[in-house]
Amino acid sequence: MSGMSRRQFLKGSALFASGLGTLAIFGCAGNSSSSAASSSASASSAAAASGEYKLVVPGKLTCISNLYFPPFESMDDKTGEPVGFDIDMSKALAEHMGLEVNWKPSQAFDSLVPAIKAGGTADIAIAGMTITDERKQEVDMSDPYVDSNQSIVTKKGSTETKESLNAAGKKIAVQAGTTGEDWAKEHLPAAAAKDGIVPLDDIIAAMTGVQTGSYDALVTDLPVASYQIKNSFSDLQVLEPIATGEQYGIAVSKDNPALTKAINEALAKMEQDGTRAQIEKTWFGSELK
Ligand code: ARG
Repeated sequence: MSGMSRRQFLKGSALFASGLGTLAIFGCAGNSSSSAASSSASASSAAAASGEYKLVVPGKLTCISNLYFPPFESMDDKTGEPVGFDIDMSKALAEHMGLEVNWKPSQAFDSLVPAIKAGGTADIAIAGMTITDERKQEVDMSDPYVDSNQSIVTKKGSTETKESLNAAGKKIAVQAGTTGEDWAKEHLPAAAAKDGIVPLDDIIAAMTGVQTGSYDALVTDLPVASYQIKNSFSDLQVLEPIATGEQYGIAVSKDNPALTKAINEALAKMEQDGTRAQIEKTWFGSELK
């Protein structure tokens, strides 16, 4: 994608961050003007690109994630299969690249970047993963495909505030290795100093823990919090949205730049042909608009 469309994208995100009342909107990974040129460069360049990238299983896009982050990714209770926004994105990506999707079992969120960096087990990690400078030192990140923010979640009617939560003895659940954990450690240092920031693997366990009183609050990505409160945890509330202005990207090994390029091209196509919008509608309806 061109520098131009990236700037346009960032401009959109800045606008969004200033209007948090709308909760979260999805970013566009590509813009029509830029990819008109690249698609006229044609099928042959796409074929050349696909010839260049490496795949751990030929013909398949092998994906890893932490499947405890619904509705972006979770495991279907009945089938045990991965489901969610990112799973649909992975299937569409594979389809746009002429590949089949190959999902591996769930792993801890903080093991995803090291696994992609080490190579050999998966081609991409797609996990509602925020693009950060730290992660970009270890792996390549695709162009952004979702805009996100953080949120503090408490029980409905709780008297807690951001200030009151920053105290010794408070327990705040987070997902291990996430930007939510980073935010909590940085902004709730008095709680953190007394082991009050509790890293968990599963965001549902964190929400249940707030419900039952094991934790005073949790910090997680706003789209996940909003979705869960709306659909399953009506006795919880977003105490405060936190405008971190995060963007999700797909992690690819630095040894496989042709794959990052092909993923970005597929993301741009999915933006243009409405695939991403359709997936957004499936999982979020009009809630995030
Ligand atoms: N966006 C946050 C981060 O990158 C949380 C992602 C958690 N994703 C997951 N599949 N558990 O740190």
